[in-house]
Amino acid sequence: MNPEFWHERWKDNKIGFHQENYNQHLINHIKKLPPFERIFLPLCGKSKDMVWLMEQGFYLYGVELSEKAILSFFEEQNIQHTISEIKNFKVFTAENCTIYCGDLFELDENLFENCQAIYDRASLIALPEKMRRDYVAKLNSLFPGFQSLLLTIEYDQTKVDGPPFNVSRKEVEELFKNKNISLLDGHKTEKVPKKMEDLGIEVIQNIYKIT
Ligand SMILES: C[S@@+](CC[C@H](N)C(=O)[O-])C[C@H]1O[C@@H](n2cnc3c(N)ncnc32)[C@H](O)[C@@H]1O
Repeated sequence: MNPEFWHERWKDNKIGFHQENYNQHLINHIKKLPPFERIFLPLCGKSKDMVWLMEQGFYLYGVELSEKAILSFFEEQNIQHTISEIKNFKVFTAENCTIYCGDLFELDENLFENCQAIYDRASLIALPEKMRRDYVAKLNSLFPGFQSLLLTIEYDQTKVDGPPFNVSRKEVEELFKNKNISLLDGHKTEKVPKKMEDLGIEVIQNIYKIT
């Protein structure tokens, strides 16, 4: 997945991954992580979950390639913000959040203050296999000792290709082998991308606590 792929998706408004409602798994499970005050959303899009997290009193960091996505987020949610620049990033700052516009793989650890929690919905599974390993290595280098609420899906990828990609439980165990992994929930989901729905592909949603 190169950046152009995602810029095209945003330009053409092909953003079937975007949810109009808060994610119920976030609401049900986030408090199961050890207590934290600041949370990072990698590949954040214009996720409404950011609003919910800020409403709970958390300070939010995000990173997103698409400036269109970030601008839409602030406009649609009616959040006052300022824009500055640091290194390769445009920085969008509001009272309770900082969103970096640019490539996750170019982030430095000194761009984050006191942040150890991660919420990953549609981020790991947005990446092909090799990038997933690089992505987890990047998270480990940015946030040593992080804790995460991670949502993944499993399906038969021989029938249809990602994104979103199939990420098996075995792969999660390998990717986070230096961590404690608890499967909080795993169930068949009806909320599946259209291309999978059309082919009648069964999708399992898994929710993990990673500490
Ligand atoms: C599947 S969407 C998920 C968005 C969000 N997590 C949500 O739940 O709606 C993946 C997002 O990651 C962004 N993205 C992909 N690769 C990226 C990268 N290397 N750095 C920053 N953002 C990236 C894309 O532009 C896209 O908005």
